[in-house]
Amino acid sequence: MEFENLKLENREGVLWVTVNRPDKLNALNVRTIGELGRAAELAAADGDVRAVVLTGAGDKAFVAGADIAELNTLGPEEAKEFGLRGQAVFNRFERLPKPVVAAVNGYALGGGCELAMACHVRIASANAVFGQPEVKLGLIPGYAGTQRLPRLVGKGRALELLLTGRNVKAEEAERIGLVNRVVEPEALVPAVDEFLSAVFRNGPLAVGRCIEAVQYGLDAPFDDGCMLEATLFGLCAASEDMAEGTAAFLEKRKAEFKGR
Ligand code: COA
Repeated sequence: MEFENLKLENREGVLWVTVNRPDKLNALNVRTIGELGRAAELAAADGDVRAVVLTGAGDKAFVAGADIAELNTLGPEEAKEFGLRGQAVFNRFERLPKPVVAAVNGYALGGGCELAMACHVRIASANAVFGQPEVKLGLIPGYAGTQRLPRLVGKGRALELLLTGRNVKAEEAERIGLVNRVVEPEALVPAVDEFLSAVFRNGPLAVGRCIEAVQYGLDAPFDDGCMLEATLFGLCAASEDMAEGTAAFLEKRKAEFKGR
């Protein structure tokens, strides 16, 4: 598949995925969702990709939502399929055992807020605006916003935002836990680089297993999550990285992780 609506760039092991429809504020049409799915597959399969960053083209929008022109024509069965397809693509990013960062550079509304929430970490510029305005269109979120928003900000806050459809500025988004960090627009890329540099100093297998433990454990019963954690902990003990990391500490030197 050729990429028409995404720009993909591997910068030193970080796959930057830029949604590139700036004239439509990077709204997600069906083609773009398909391309995002393909990008997630590429990121999963490519051993040279250590992390993924999702962002939007231009300085106004991350993603301003699903493409409302397409929504306008959907019948009920098509709309359900539309939701399931988008959910599967967003889940694919969330389930990558490599860090996935949203670099939120402007409007993150509807499907844009949902895409950012599917990322492991959200770093936003001070001009970012979040929201789930679907009720204003007579709709509800269709890309798992009703599920991820309460998990991030709590049920009461999520329902307040979902029922009013109101916009949330970056500062409030940070206060309620919707984003990890807010920086000035020109500091967005450096802040993402800084976060990933800190991650890359650690054992890559351990990083991937942390993501898996949180991802698959969080929605499982507590005991099952603990068992998953113990099993992944045990797997770490079979790695050269754990032998190296613990030995480096004891020998008071920097660890040289190999990712195996
Ligand atoms: N779907 C399709 N097109 C969209 C879009 C979306 N979600 N969001 C923006 N666009 C298009 C506009 O129709 C416009 O296209 P045009 O120039 O061909 O008319 C272009 O992007 C620029 O948007 P515009 O509304 O003129 O910019 P603005 O600065 O006045 O307003 C927003 C910005 C984000 C407040 C406004 O575009 C908006 O409310 N978008 C919809 C947000 C939404 O409801 N998302 C959830 C969808 S489920």
